[in-house]
Amino acid sequence: MKITIAKNELEFDTIAAWRIIAEILAHPQAVIGLSTGRTTINMHRIVGEIYRQHPFYLSGITLFGVDEVTNVPREYSGACYTMLKTQIVDALGIKEAQFLMPPTVSNDFEKECRRYEAELKTRGGVDLQVLGLGTNGHLGFNQPGTPFESTTWISAMDEVLEARIRKETNTPPERELGGFTLGLKNIMHSRKIILAAKGVQKAEIVRKMLSGPVTTAVPASILQLHPDCEFLLDVDAAKYIDN
Ligand code: GLP
Repeated sequence: MKITIAKNELEFDTIAAWRIIAEILAHPQAVIGLSTGRTTINMHRIVGEIYRQHPFYLSGITLFGVDEVTNVPREYSGACYTMLKTQIVDALGIKEAQFLMPPTVSNDFEKECRRYEAELKTRGGVDLQVLGLGTNGHLGFNQPGTPFESTTWISAMDEVLEARIRKETNTPPERELGGFTLGLKNIMHSRKIILAAKGVQKAEIVRKMLSGPVTTAVPASILQLHPDCEFLLDVDAAKYIDN
């Protein structure tokens, strides 16, 4: 297993940003999956800053989101579309055709799931998938209990997150919120993965992910079996791992 431990948060964010840029430089047609959340905000910002100072070729790349909230407007600040657009996509001047996101609204999500997968396949499959880690071990919106064989689907929303989103968007209870997410099987098909986790609140789940059994109770534990996954941690998140 490839484990990288950054000595502080800035080093963590900078390493992650350079990993994304390295992928773009190595593969001009790269298909790169991004994740939202507190872990990835700064790495996204740094990619944009480096690009502004030292522009590189990126008209052939595709950026996409691993997941999205359903049944909220995509302009909502908590929608993954808006987060990625404001954190990295606009800073890189990426055109809409190069930025794939699941729809937030649809009357046939099953069809949209298959369409999303097909679009990624058409572009050659995923070269690099950057993932955050839930404190319960979730990947994307694949919560504990999700089968390892899962493909793109709409998962039930985590209760705490759902309450927050409902409040912020005034979404009435009759409108169901969900998590459109690549499944664990799709994630495992990425050629390369970077699992990024920082902060002491992730330390326990990082330990389980790396040294516990591979179990659906900890979705991220499946990454132990990926041939090219880098676990990028800061010292706090790495606190309990056995050396
Ligand atoms: C949300 C996203 C995940 C992400 C996770 C990590 O649940 N749907 O894709 O990995 O947040 O969040 P944070 O980085 O804020 O801990």
